[in-house]
Amino acid sequence: MSTFSFSIPRDIVYGEGSLNRLSTLKGKRAALVTGGSSMKKFGFLDQAQNLLRKAGIESIIIDGVEPNPSVETVWRGAKAMQEFNPDWIVAIGGGSALDAAKVMWCFYEHPHLKFEDIITPGSMPALRNKARFVAIPSTSGTASEITAFSVITDTKNHIKYPIVAADMVPDIAIIDPALPAKMPKEVTANTGMDVMCHSVEALASTAATSYTDPYAIESIRLVFENIEKAYTNPNDMTARFNMHNASALAGMAFTNASLGLVHALAHKIGGEFGVTHGLANAILMPYIIDFNRKYTDKYSTAERILGIKDIAEEIRVLNKKLGIPATFKECKEVDFNERKFAEVFERMSKNAHGDPCILTNPGKPTIDDVKRIYQAAYYGKSLK
Ligand SMILES: NC(=O)c1ccc[n+]([C@@H]2O[C@H](COP(=O)([O-])OP(=O)(O)OC[C@H]3O[C@@H](n4cnc5c(N)ncnc54)[C@H](O)[C@@H]3O)[C@@H](O)[C@H]2O)c1
Ligand SMILES: [Fe+2]
Repeated sequence: MSTFSFSIPRDIVYGEGSLNRLSTLKGKRAALVTGGSSMKKFGFLDQAQNLLRKAGIESIIIDGVEPNPSVETVWRGAKAMQEFNPDWIVAIGGGSALDAAKVMWCFYEHPHLKFEDIITPGSMPALRNKARFVAIPSTSGTASEITAFSVITDTKNHIKYPIVAADMVPDIAIIDPALPAKMPKEVTANTGMDVMCHSVEALASTAATSYTDPYAIESIRLVFENIEKAYTNPNDMTARFNMHNASALAGMAFTNASLGLVHALAHKIGGEFGVTHGLANAILMPYIIDFNRKYTDKYSTAERILGIKDIAEEIRVLNKKLGIPATFKECKEVDFNERKFAEVFERMSKNAHGDPCILTNPGKPTIDDVKRIYQAAYYGKSLK
């Protein structure tokens, strides 16, 4: 019999107003890490600095973390931290800001390390020698506030690296739905379908257990019931609350059970074309559920519990309602022209097959399987 472990942040504070938890931190200096401008624009960055001030904590802001954060951004932030010497790192923003802050934290604590030194799962040295970590998500999507993961892009080689280290699970997750209520419609749709994908993949994972399945199932239920409401009525705070919690619940499932083929393929097509993470997942997911079905009975379990007939079909219907295209060929977000797709196809398929997320996918997908799925999701071919 094997032994297992289940890790989540020590403190999870959720609901409207939970941002106030910052005023009770004990410490001297905090580095606030954030993305482009949304947190500043909507006043959350000022609120966070004021709450920290109330706690007697001086803070600096490390901003400008781009979507799909790069190794260079991580170095820039780590350097600023080395100069300021914070005892708290407070990441506030989307998954990109939270992910970048986690790896900045690692290089702040271990300045001698190179990016290559932390790519292999389990290779990151211990954290919390200098600082602890608060994560405040502004998207209901990646669940980076719960997880041991960070996705960093090597822009020179067009590869997104999922970094895995148990020590990167934040100390405190603040899950306040006031932040994601400001998301534009397409960000609500894409990040929300990322949540669906996390729970569907964690459920079907070969590492799923009785500890992870309930979170995955509850998260799938919450997304089916709330994503369209949050998309059509951004101020529906009940839907926002449910989606923000669904995201964290999915995180509890997948940080412990890991993911699968959808994320493996999405990481690599994201690295090649720059397509938004949740959008790539949403397009790939129904194809991969059809492909995986012969290797797992977990989709039938979800269908039975949720009272639905075919989860892949339900996701296709939902995608359509959220303005998400059925194929990459129809996707207008980035230039998915056929010539470039053919050009990168071999490299992208090989890299996707090497992505660690594939290890827990049911069945043992080959490179040919990966190619077949990319083709199907590009042209809209059935994999049933
Ligand atoms: N760490 C993990 O466990 C994990 C899991 C899945 C994906 N990821 C990674 O996370 C990244 C994607 O993160 P994301 O989907 O949260 O998006 P994101 O952080 O890239 O943000 C998307 C866009 O939305 C804006 N935005 C964010 N919150 C907003 C708000 N409340 N109001 C208005 N605008 C807002 C951002 O400025 C940005 O322009 C990818 O790099 C992906 O690979 C990480
Ligand atoms: Fe994801």
